Amino acid sequence: MKLLVTGGAGFIGSNFVRLLASESEHELTVLDALTYAGNLANLEGIPAGRLRFVHADICDAAAVRACCAGQDAVVHFAAESHVDRSILDPGAFVRTNVLGTQVLLTAARGAGVERYVQVSTDEVYGSLSSSGRFSEESPLCPSSPYSASKAGADLLAQAAAHTFGLAVLITRCGNNYGPYQFPEKLIPLTILRAMRGEPIPVYGDGRNVRDWIHVEDHCRAIWRVLEAGAPGRVYNVGSDGERPNLEIVREILRLVGTSRDLITFVRDRPGHDFRYALDSSRLRRELGWSPRWTLGSGLAATVRWYREHPEWWGKVLSGEYLEYTRRQYGALAGGAGG
Ligand code: NAD
Ligand code: TYD
Repeated sequence: MKLLVTGGAGFIGSNFVRLLASESEHELTVLDALTYAGNLANLEGIPAGRLRFVHADICDAAAVRACCAGQDAVVHFAAESHVDRSILDPGAFVRTNVLGTQVLLTAARGAGVERYVQVSTDEVYGSLSSSGRFSEESPLCPSSPYSASKAGADLLAQAAAHTFGLAVLITRCGNNYGPYQFPEKLIPLTILRAMRGEPIPVYGDGRNVRDWIHVEDHCRAIWRVLEAGAPGRVYNVGSDGERPNLEIVREILRLVGTSRDLITFVRDRPGHDFRYALDSSRLRRELGWSPRWTLGSGLAATVRWYREHPEWWGKVLSGEYLEYTRRQYGALAGGAGG
């Protein structure tokens, strides 16, 4: 199969490309604008000849059309992905996540691709109180500029399926962690700050709950949906990894082996969603997917990966990152978490 992967130089996209490059025969093309979150180092080690890389913006209709030509399928990861940045600059999220998705849908339809996977998030469902889980039938009720832009993209993808008959499949996953994650997100931020003995910013009281999943489990789910999912269907992807943020941070401090109390409570995120939790029984029942990682084994492996790859994160902690963390964390900004 000829497969176009957008955003393949980012965290999840690069893990997906790495997986398919080693376990499938698919011909892979990555389209990526290499924003602050995209990094060619994420694709290092993939054998030459297994991958074609196109440096382009998802909003550039001519470039996207050229990339879609001759493809059998598209998996769409490219996005602005960080909630805190969406609060600082919502417009960038509307442009890439909403407009960019429409540009891609139009190009995919024009090229006659057979399958189109929209990689979405549980955040489109909004926030839960302390009980219940999201099913695929839960209403879309996004609350941050990030999740609103992702919900807009999902609706455009569903409109393309309904109106034009494009074979769209949508996956909605919980919070990912694992290798190659940019250290603006909670888990890699905490690992690097703990390793460097820097304060770890916990928003509010730290009781907000996220449903964590190892990135490899997410990538295997997307692959399964790509190959066997029913067009028009939505699949939640979750691995029963619900934990309050404070528990995650404490577990990372234990794994890093620091005895210092680095936890620092800071002003809460505006509009902070309290809890996400996913019912992924459809994916398990209909497509036979199940997670391979537990949160315990996955977190331990992730801490090990960051310990063993200082050259990767050393390069990532560059000027743009330092500027962002100064803006986001103010006086708390330091080296690793800022
Ligand atoms: P990421 O920020 O690590 O990577 C995003 C990639 O998209 C980068 O390589 C970046 O260069 C590229 N990109 C950004 N704007 C672009 C543009 N205009 N044109 C072309 N490329 C562009 O994100 P991630 O965490 O790997 O997330 C990938 C996808 O998965 C996103 O769609 C996100 O919404 C979704 N998702 C993420 C999570 C999570 O926990 N990280 C959970 C569920 C769903
Ligand atoms: P994050 O990794 O940004 O993912 P998302 O906002 O998409 O869920 O945040 C995960 C949780 O951790 C969320 O409840 C916000 C919280 N958080 C902190 O407490 N401190 C931080 O510095 C960051 C980045 C997140």
